[in-house]
Amino acid sequence: MSEQQRESWGSRIGVILAAAGSAVGIGNLLRFPGQAAQHGGGAFMIPYILSLLLFGLPMMWVAWTVGRMGGRWGHGTTPGMFWRLSGKSWGKYLGVIGVALPMIFILYYTYIEAWCLGYAWFSLRESFVSHAGHYVDLRMFYDEFLGNGTTHSYFPGVGTAVTFLAITLALNVWVLFRGINRGIETLAKIAIPLLLLFCLILSVRVLTLGRIEGSVWDGLRFLWSPDLSALTSPKVWMAAAGQIFFTLSIGYGCLECFGSYLKRNDDLTLTGLTTASLNEFVEVIFGSMIAIPAAAVYFGAEKVPEIAGQGTFAIGMVSMAEILRGLPALQIFGTIWFLLLFFAAFTSSVAVAQPVMSFLEDEARLSRASASGLLLIFWMLGSLPVVLLYRYGALNELDFWAGTIGLVVFTIIEIILFSWVFGIDKGWEEMHRGALIQVPRIFRFVLKYVTPVLLLLIFAFWFQSAVVEGDLLAPAPKLHWGIIDRQIYDGEFRTLAAPAAERAEELAALEARVTDRVSLLGRDLDGWATVVLHPSAPLVVAQWSGDPALLDVLSPKDFQRWLTLRGLRYETPEGAPRSSIAINIAFQARYRQTAIWITRLIIVVFNAGFLLMIWAIWKRRYPDGHPPREVMP
Ligand code: ALA
Repeated sequence: MSEQQRESWGSRIGVILAAAGSAVGIGNLLRFPGQAAQHGGGAFMIPYILSLLLFGLPMMWVAWTVGRMGGRWGHGTTPGMFWRLSGKSWGKYLGVIGVALPMIFILYYTYIEAWCLGYAWFSLRESFVSHAGHYVDLRMFYDEFLGNGTTHSYFPGVGTAVTFLAITLALNVWVLFRGINRGIETLAKIAIPLLLLFCLILSVRVLTLGRIEGSVWDGLRFLWSPDLSALTSPKVWMAAAGQIFFTLSIGYGCLECFGSYLKRNDDLTLTGLTTASLNEFVEVIFGSMIAIPAAAVYFGAEKVPEIAGQGTFAIGMVSMAEILRGLPALQIFGTIWFLLLFFAAFTSSVAVAQPVMSFLEDEARLSRASASGLLLIFWMLGSLPVVLLYRYGALNELDFWAGTIGLVVFTIIEIILFSWVFGIDKGWEEMHRGALIQVPRIFRFVLKYVTPVLLLLIFAFWFQSAVVEGDLLAPAPKLHWGIIDRQIYDGEFRTLAAPAAERAEELAALEARVTDRVSLLGRDLDGWATVVLHPSAPLVVAQWSGDPALLDVLSPKDFQRWLTLRGLRYETPEGAPRSSIAINIAFQARYRQTAIWITRLIIVVFNAGFLLMIWAIWKRRYPDGHPPREVMP
């Protein structure tokens, strides 16, 4: 496909909405409030704004510039762009990251997108209000939906989640098949106004909740009162940097790809600034206006840190689901909340998938239909391990490599090529071709020195904390348990959020016995217990059976002690029950190493596969090396 035949955007507003669509996603509405709440509340905003200024915004302009330049030679992706930018034949191989990384990212991101669609459907059907006339434990509902539970009270397997994933993949590929203008741009023009409307409706609903266990102000105060001591922790700075990458979709190759469909003199400085501003508006205003204040109203301000600490998805799928089902009109507000998340994710996933499409069309010279078909095959095959190995942490693993480390590596390569190899002078001039606003000159200095140094520091820190301090190379086994036939109990089973220090030590020692055995054997260990819970007496394990290797390290007494240390108790809606109940528990200690290495293999396979394609394509199309410098005007 020659440059003339490539598509271009229909309108400037279309480009901005599409770019905003790529940026506004789950990151804005769930990840941001979760990260801010866990990292010092208002104090988080200081490193966050600095990150925005020192590499968020600058890299946004660089991405558009690199993209628009690449588009001049018909390259929609970084293998071609980096090749031209560096003027060296190795440049194209560095660019593989801009195709492999988005491919890996969409494998897990669309799965999360599918959960949102699923939960919108569940809200409409009120599926998580009651199940066969009984109370629904939302934590177990969520775990079982994803095959992460040890029980099957609400879902027999992952079939429902896979159905929603299939619908989500089909919708994504359909939009991508329609192309940049009729697909992505049209979707953004519909979805962005719709999601702003949804944000507005939900914010008004949350602000008018009144007082239940707490007030909206408790939530806002929690999120915005600065805990300045947080600023001394490098983790807070790293979390803020990570959030800026994630939310602005920097380092995925998608903004470069979008840039390649601009015309030679189309503005990109104002476009970049507008995109970032729209994203920040949704993130900082709406992102902090919905989930955390709602949690403060419903659960009380003192519970908010605990909820935020449960992680991004638990806030969205468990806490928000709990709040929404407690309010009148779940069918309306629940559906709106989850559709909001779905549409936000949908516009991001098509944007991040576009580099793969463009690579197949521009470089492999496939027709749109063939490119979409091949992408769908990659997507389906790559999603299999994400779904089937979710219980072993496959999604988090991909998120670590693609959604955290990978973004930084990509950005380091890009900024060095742009500022140092291509040269900041030429880069600055190229950035301002057709520009509607002049970028302040201080950013020349930032782009040349500050951004690269900061990015290298961030990379070093993450690498150190994950590989050297964390259990990255040998992921530890994890313990899971659940209550069999959970749906027949109308009350709540509670455990302690965190046991007291001396109990924690004993708990860790007990758990280490099991996890050490799992590591030694290299397989999962299952156990089943019948436990009697009495309102005023200690719990009793009446029966304990399972894998002999498990029983060998964990006696019935040990298991009883383990549950006691975890503080397991039962409360009916009216308070503590008067008589004792017997429950059956399914326990599983999961061996994770094999699954995690299979997941890493996906990353290697996609990178190697695209590298091979680059090698073969360039060999065929540019047999005599065709030095790119000659075609650089
Ligand atoms: N930028 C997208 C988000 O925030 C990926 O979810």
